[in-house]
Amino acid sequence: MQGRLTTHDLIKAKQSGKKIAALTAYDATFARILDEAGIDLILVGDSAANVIAGYETTHPIGMREMIYHTKAVVRATRRAFVVMDMPFGSYQISTAQAVRNAIRAVKATGVQAVKLEGGQEIAHIIEAILRAGIPVMGHLGLLPQSVHKLGGYRLQGKTQSEAQRLLNDARLLEQLGCFAIVLEKIPAKLAKQITETVRIPTIGIGAGPHTDGQILVLYDMLGLNPHFQPRFVRTFANLYTIVSQAVQKYCTAVRQNQFPAHGEYYDTNPAPTT
Ligand code: KIV
Repeated sequence: MQGRLTTHDLIKAKQSGKKIAALTAYDATFARILDEAGIDLILVGDSAANVIAGYETTHPIGMREMIYHTKAVVRATRRAFVVMDMPFGSYQISTAQAVRNAIRAVKATGVQAVKLEGGQEIAHIIEAILRAGIPVMGHLGLLPQSVHKLGGYRLQGKTQSEAQRLLNDARLLEQLGCFAIVLEKIPAKLAKQITETVRIPTIGIGAGPHTDGQILVLYDMLGLNPHFQPRFVRTFANLYTIVSQAVQKYCTAVRQNQFPAHGEYYDTNPAPTT
């Protein structure tokens, strides 16, 4: 049986022009479906704070919860390359804290790599984690962990100077040794320029068609949240309606005593006489 994809496979995919398909996952059931359907990369995103726990931002989630979700995803997958997001506050305090938490992530979950948000300002941290032998995926553009500093979930890299800074950051992440970079919510032209500049794969979300791969939050692309439909999310299914209709049918069946029916319960043993 073929083993898991590696950082080399992802870099080779870019070299051969093969697009990388990535999604987030947070639990074993969905992770198994994604893996068996042929996804290349699964990110256990800190978006779990939003879609699993219902918070407004990704800030509240911590290492314990990320490790819990990542263990489930790693356990359920065989082929996909799995990355864990380092949550807010787990790497910003010091290099020692960042390396300790990255090592904890790998030891506790068996995950192949970690992802950190930022460029030049966290270069020393990325470098230290890489020195510990842990692959790092970069993340540039809209950084949800810095949402208040950025003034909201806005398009990034719109001005000449912002675009230049993002291009420089992408070059720096490549130089440091990151194996890939997520580009979130930046103009498609800028994403194309970055993609053509660096030799490591770029994985876009809201960054247009020219990146080396695409990633979406699983619950968004499955149409589980009709209240969140930004321009860059395509809903490949409408699971909100499918789940809602199934639950309505179930409620009716239970209330009308149509469930369980004959064959849906165990009736082989005689009832006790006393
Ligand atoms: O946490 C997450 O889901 C992410 C993706 C949006 C890339 O970082």
